[in-house]
Amino acid sequence: MHPFISGNKYRKLKYNLNEAKKNNFDSIVTYGGAYSNHIAATAYAGKENNIKTVGVIRGEELADKWQENPTLSFANANGMHFKFVSREWYRTKDKTTALQVLEAEFGQFYNLPEGGTNQLAVKGCQEILSDKDESFDVICTAVGTGGTIAGIINSTKENQKVIGFPALKGDFLQKDIRKFTDKSNWSLNSDYNFGGYAKVSEELIDFINDFKLVLNIPLDPIYTGKMMYGILDLIQKDYFKPGTKILAIHTGGLQGIAGMNTKLKKKNSPLLLL
Ligand SMILES: Cc1ncc(COP(=O)(O)O)c(C=O)c1O
Repeated sequence: MHPFISGNKYRKLKYNLNEAKKNNFDSIVTYGGAYSNHIAATAYAGKENNIKTVGVIRGEELADKWQENPTLSFANANGMHFKFVSREWYRTKDKTTALQVLEAEFGQFYNLPEGGTNQLAVKGCQEILSDKDESFDVICTAVGTGGTIAGIINSTKENQKVIGFPALKGDFLQKDIRKFTDKSNWSLNSDYNFGGYAKVSEELIDFINDFKLVLNIPLDPIYTGKMMYGILDLIQKDYFKPGTKILAIHTGGLQGIAGMNTKLKKKNSPLLLL
C-alpha cells in the first residue's frame, strides 16, 4: 500500500490523521515497544503530513542506545522525538495522570493509543475487505491490539468467518475486540504465538525463510509469519473443509525483520533472509 506505512498501518492511520488535521493538532503522541511497526509507520506518516510525532517508548534502557535499533533509528530519521519510559510507567500510559505528564512536556497533542487502535483505526480497517473478497469463506489475520481484526470482522458477509492469530499471550484480547464489533463470526487461535510477543523458534525462522525462497513472499517474524505458519498447519491437520477458500491478509511489518536479526545475531541463531 505504501513503502513505509505498510499493511494495516495505512488503514489505521488514515482517519486518525484526518481527525488530527481537522482539529488543527500540530503533533501526535503515540506509544510502542522498541521494534514497533506502528512507531515506524507513525513517524513516516507524520513527516508526510507535516505533523510532529512523539513516540513514548517502553524501556528506559533504550535511551542511550536507540541508535543501534533499526526501528527507532528509522523513526528518528523521519522526525520522531522519543520519550523513553519504564515498563511500570508504560503500563499507566492510558491514565489521566500520565496524559497530564505528557501534556506538561509536549503541550496539546493528538493522542493515538498503542498500536494505533481506536474507533477511527477500526473504521480504516473496515476498508481492508472489498466486494471482490466476498467469495472467500474464511479470512485470516494476525492480531496485536485487535483493531485490525475488528475492522475486518465488521465488513464481513454473513457466510464468512474470521480467524485471528494473536502475536501475544493473554485473554484480554477477546474483550478488546468486542469493544469494536457486535458480530460473532470470529475466533482467535492462540496455538501459534510461539511463546509470546516477539518470541521466535528456529522452526519459525526456517518456515519464513522457506516461504520467501519458494514463493518470493516475505513474512515478518512477529505477526504474518506466525499467522501463515498457523494457517498451513491447520490445513495439514484438516481443520478446514475441502474446498474452503481462505484469504490470508498480509498486514505488513517487514521493517521488523532487521530488528529481529539484530537480536538473533547476538544469540548466534539462524537469521531471517532479507
Ligand atoms: C504487521 C502487523 N500485523 C498485524 C498487527 C496487528 O494489528 P492490531 O494491533 O490492529 O491487532 C500489527 C500491529 O499490531 C502489525 O504490526
